[in-house]
Amino acid sequence: MAKINLLVLFGGVSTEHEVSRVSAASVLSRLDPEKYNIIPVGITKAGQWFLYGGCDSDAVSEGRWETAEENLPAILSPSRGDGLLVFGKGKVAKIPVDCVFPVLHGLNGEDGTLQGLFEAAGVAYVGSGVGASSNCMDKSVTKILAGQYNILQADYILVHKSEFAKAPDDAVTAAEEKFKYPVFVKPSSSGSSVGVSKAKDREGLKSALDEAFRYDKKVLIEEAVDGQEIEVAVLGNDEPIASVPGEIVPSREFYSYEAKYIDNSSGLIIPAGIPEEASDSARKEALTVYRALGCRGLARVDFFVRRADFAVVLNEINTIPGFTSISMYPKLFEASGIKYPELLDRLIALAMSDK
Ligand SMILES: Nc1ncnc2c1ncn2[C@@H]1O[C@H](COP(=O)(O)OP(=O)(O)O)[C@@H](O)[C@H]1O
Ligand SMILES: [Mg+2]
Repeated sequence: MAKINLLVLFGGVSTEHEVSRVSAASVLSRLDPEKYNIIPVGITKAGQWFLYGGCDSDAVSEGRWETAEENLPAILSPSRGDGLLVFGKGKVAKIPVDCVFPVLHGLNGEDGTLQGLFEAAGVAYVGSGVGASSNCMDKSVTKILAGQYNILQADYILVHKSEFAKAPDDAVTAAEEKFKYPVFVKPSSSGSSVGVSKAKDREGLKSALDEAFRYDKKVLIEEAVDGQEIEVAVLGNDEPIASVPGEIVPSREFYSYEAKYIDNSSGLIIPAGIPEEASDSARKEALTVYRALGCRGLARVDFFVRRADFAVVLNEINTIPGFTSISMYPKLFEASGIKYPELLDRLIALAMSDK
């Protein structure tokens, strides 16, 4: 079989730039070079695209790739058939692209922006399309859509930045009328817990709102769900499959950025320590949500299992979840019998068959 020209995109203009590099280093080092011509393209934090001239995955995870001498500016052309345009000394070369693997988390990568470019370019790509990517990125939209399918979710208030700027006390008062402290405050479109806070009183809520509005024009104030945090990995297009649920045991009061990436002591337990009934309903709900939002390829669907009654409460959907070899998504499928390299093959095959 002919090798697939696979463009692997990493980095990006996102608060999750660093996380993307670590995910991409794993992907790059585990793709089978017998099956793929790997074309690694890094996007700097400033948004510049470069064909990475090296092949050192540590340099990708650590960010040193940016200074490799052989790097060349490159862009995926929206003009069909062009592929990747690579700008050398006074010359433009074209590298054909069969499939893109956007190993990008958060804004400008997981949110539909680049998926639009892939559509325009007419290339296959791993993961969800424009609409599903965008709807899953924006938690306020996810809530409305999932609500149509009677999926249980944390109750919330949506606050717009312009309204908050005019009358900051109104949002606080509305939250206090509706919820007891603590509440969670989060940018509607963020990830990796950037800008997410647990507010325990009025002062805390005000500063949490200020913090969240640094990252987005829309912010959610949510009731706190007391329970375990679980995650289900989903794989597929029209007939998706759901993994066993895994459980997160945060090293801090909640699964904050520090608990995710700094402490190195948050636990992942597979399978999650929850009753079988809760596990079954989480898998079922994960598939319902995946279909409802129109996801393709892959997604990780995150839930809480409420302490009081083991009810499964949707938290959020990640269409390009963390993808290091120790990340929850690949670990969950490994526990379900699909090893990391095979998972990559399946994702690429799903992308190619979906074009
Ligand atoms: N309503 C909630 N109740 C309890 N914990 C929450 C709630 N919302 C968020 N959290 C905590 O904050 C973390 C990050 O919030 P999340 O909505 O998943 O944002 P992100 O997209 O940044 O991961 C969650 O993993 C969880 O630990
Ligand atoms: Mg999350």
